[in-house]
Amino acid sequence: MNKVHISIAIDGPAGAGKSTVAKKVAEKLKLEYIDTGAMYRAYTLKVLEKGLDPQNKSEVLSLIDDTEITFSNNHIYLDGEIVDDKIRENNVSKNVSYVSSYPEVRKKMVELQQKMAENNNVIMDGRDIGTVVLPNATHKFFITAKPEERGKRRYIELLEKNHDDLNLSEIIEDIKKRDEIDSTREESPLRIPDNAIVVDSTNLTIDEVVDLLIEFIKGDNKIVL
Ligand code: DC
Repeated sequence: MNKVHISIAIDGPAGAGKSTVAKKVAEKLKLEYIDTGAMYRAYTLKVLEKGLDPQNKSEVLSLIDDTEITFSNNHIYLDGEIVDDKIRENNVSKNVSYVSSYPEVRKKMVELQQKMAENNNVIMDGRDIGTVVLPNATHKFFITAKPEERGKRRYIELLEKNHDDLNLSEIIEDIKKRDEIDSTREESPLRIPDNAIVVDSTNLTIDEVVDLLIEFIKGDNKIVL
């Protein structure tokens, strides 16, 4: 039996559980997990730390050739510094949709992501993975959930990280706003890739979604795991 190169694309809106699910599937199937949202977040963090305006295109692009974003041992590095926690701050979440809407930013990230997938069996999550980054992925999934449920999940996640000053309805509004920007932007808008399996996780636990994906992946007899 021949082993084939595995590439699994997971797309969907913010807070649908994509990254938690992808991480677990990666562990179970021994795949490399690549969180592409974390890359856009890292670049947004850099823009903010330099005091630049995320809504000013030329300010945002001024850093593009001078930025290094890598993954190692499950950490994300921005110019050599681990930024796992900083990229989850609210200020980054609020501004990342602006930064990720610029074609030049996307081009750079997509090139990096395609390189990462070239020589590894990967599971990658984001908004344009099955459509743009890995159009020939061996498996494509679109994971979604109702905005209210996604907001509730993000609220609990932030609460567990000891964030105070949280307002659930504001978080839900932010999520709806990000959905709107991500789905209507001109460059690689969020949409369901052709041939993707759509999973609505509103009433499912993380483990139920993980099991569902693995069932589909293993059910495909092209793959030897
Ligand atoms: O998945 P996330 O919430 O960490 O993503 C952060 C932002 O990055 C999100 O608003 C959309 C954007 N993004 C994107 O445009 N393309 C990707 N492949 C991944 C994320």
